[in-house]
Amino acid sequence: MDSGHSDIEKYAIEKNVPIMHKDGILFLVNIIKKHHVKHILELGSGIGYSAIKMVEASPDVMITTIEKDPERYVQAVKNINAFHLDSRITCLNMDAYDYQTEMKFDLIFLDAAKAQYQGLFDKFINNLTSEGIMVVDNLIFHGLVDDPSRTHNRRTKDLIRKIKKFRDSLMNDPLYDVQFYPNIGDGVALIKIH
Ligand SMILES: C[S@@+](CC[C@H](N)C(=O)[O-])C[C@H]1O[C@@H](n2cnc3c(N)ncnc32)[C@H](O)[C@@H]1O
Repeated sequence: MDSGHSDIEKYAIEKNVPIMHKDGILFLVNIIKKHHVKHILELGSGIGYSAIKMVEASPDVMITTIEKDPERYVQAVKNINAFHLDSRITCLNMDAYDYQTEMKFDLIFLDAAKAQYQGLFDKFINNLTSEGIMVVDNLIFHGLVDDPSRTHNRRTKDLIRKIKKFRDSLMNDPLYDVQFYPNIGDGVALIKIH
């Protein structure tokens, strides 16, 4: 099994596909175990790495994961099948914005395009169960959100402005209980509805 994981990690490095840091994965796995998470929605499958790691955290876990990039989707399905996890992980090739569901999830992992975080958060926050948890990664974006002077790229500056705006409004929103872990993953927030 472990050699399978490292094959995915190798592929991610070679093809420049972002996958969650190991400490971030451990953080998700601990949440799944601690809160007896069963149903997970993941926005941004990449090549299926985090979905495979999350489903392996507990035999009760079922995941729906969404990836808009066709090439990554094909690779995600290949990896999920190689681990014989296709009965527990449903991978959809579409833009998460177009995914409509009435289903409630114990955990929603938001790991798609950073510029769309606010929109995707607003769209899916009501798909959490009453005790449900939303986890969002990349809230420090390689440290740039708190030190934008480190980049002169206009698009990157625009992106980090959007991430900061989303992060600030989240932390100050009385509707949510937000715990921010800047040193885990690429800056992870754990969000519950009060
Ligand atoms: C950081 S990667 C996901 C990594 C994956 N969660 C992991 O740790 O293995 C983000 C992925 O989200 C996808 N993505 C971005 N915006 C999306 C959207 N609106 N709907 C679906 N997928 C999206 C990108 O194509 C990319 O593959």
